Amino acid sequence: MSTPVTPLEGKVALVTGAARAQGRAHAVRLASEGADVVVTDICAPVSESVSYPAPTPDDLAETVRLVEEAGGRSLSAVLDIRELGALQDLVTRTIATFGRLDIVVANAGVLNWGRLWELPEDDWDMVIGVNLSGTWRTIRAAVPAMISAGNGGSIIIVSSSAGLKATPGNGHYSASKAGLVALTNSLALEAGEFGIRVNSIHPYSVDTPMIDPDGMAEIFGRFPSYLHSFSPMPLKNVLADGVSTLADFMPPEEVADVVSFLAGDGSRSISGVQVPFDRGALRY
Ligand SMILES: NC(=O)c1ccc[n+]([C@@H]2O[C@H](COP(=O)([O-])OP(=O)(O)OC[C@H]3O[C@@H](n4cnc5c(N)ncnc54)[C@H](O)[C@@H]3O)[C@@H](O)[C@H]2O)c1
Repeated sequence: MSTPVTPLEGKVALVTGAARAQGRAHAVRLASEGADVVVTDICAPVSESVSYPAPTPDDLAETVRLVEEAGGRSLSAVLDIRELGALQDLVTRTIATFGRLDIVVANAGVLNWGRLWELPEDDWDMVIGVNLSGTWRTIRAAVPAMISAGNGGSIIIVSSSAGLKATPGNGHYSASKAGLVALTNSLALEAGEFGIRVNSIHPYSVDTPMIDPDGMAEIFGRFPSYLHSFSPMPLKNVLADGVSTLADFMPPEEVADVVSFLAGDGSRSISGVQVPFDRGALRY
């Protein structure tokens, strides 16, 4: 049996953190496969202690344009995933407009650096608040609507390799992403009876603004031994012309390949699984 060109035709997806980078790549990929895609982002700095720049509302508008160019209908909202009411309003608009919600890509996240016993309380609260609690709020808003729609669905939680291993220098980020593993696995059991699958993906070294060379140079300059936990990826990138290179960073579109697989029927029996996306680096 051949795979349909638009296997997600008739499905509706929600992608958080979609103004740029990985979130945008996921939104555009799902649209190109036939889905209507609701996109959201805070489009502003989450905190002054985040060293890399934030996206703008224009970036989110560009994602909407790209989703529509890829063939999907779209809705968008500038919101903070730490605000449950705003997420619930967006889900209500989604159901009013499209009648269903099938796919959630809980992708929004934030990173900053510091040793655990030196972190300002605000940094701990901010990173846990966005990455862990904000992802729970995304689920809290979306799952009741998915259950009511009665079509089952797929939830993809964007964790990190830092959710599966120690990452000295950003232990609060690691703790937030490890918390997402527990959230994923418990939700997979709870939502399974409604036909909703839940899996987490664990990227490493994806070429996005979050990878801030200055912030990393500063922490690794102070604590060179921490570099050991941020090893190069062992798997060579074999290009179409046969040239192999050791890639330092992977493009967001490669992560979208995995999201697309987990969103679609090809993964219909996969739930409660952690999928590393790191060209084998976890095994060091
Ligand atoms: N880049 C990497 O190497 C890497 C590795 C592992 C995991 N991740 C994870 O991948 C996801 C996407 O990150 P990215 O690499 O595309 O970086 P990014 O900074 O470009 O994307 C994150 C997006 O989330 C949005 N966001 C942050 N806080 C928000 C909030 N409170 N409410 C709504 N939106 C918010 C940001 O504005 C941004 O657009 C994140 O969860 C990140 O932790 C990234």
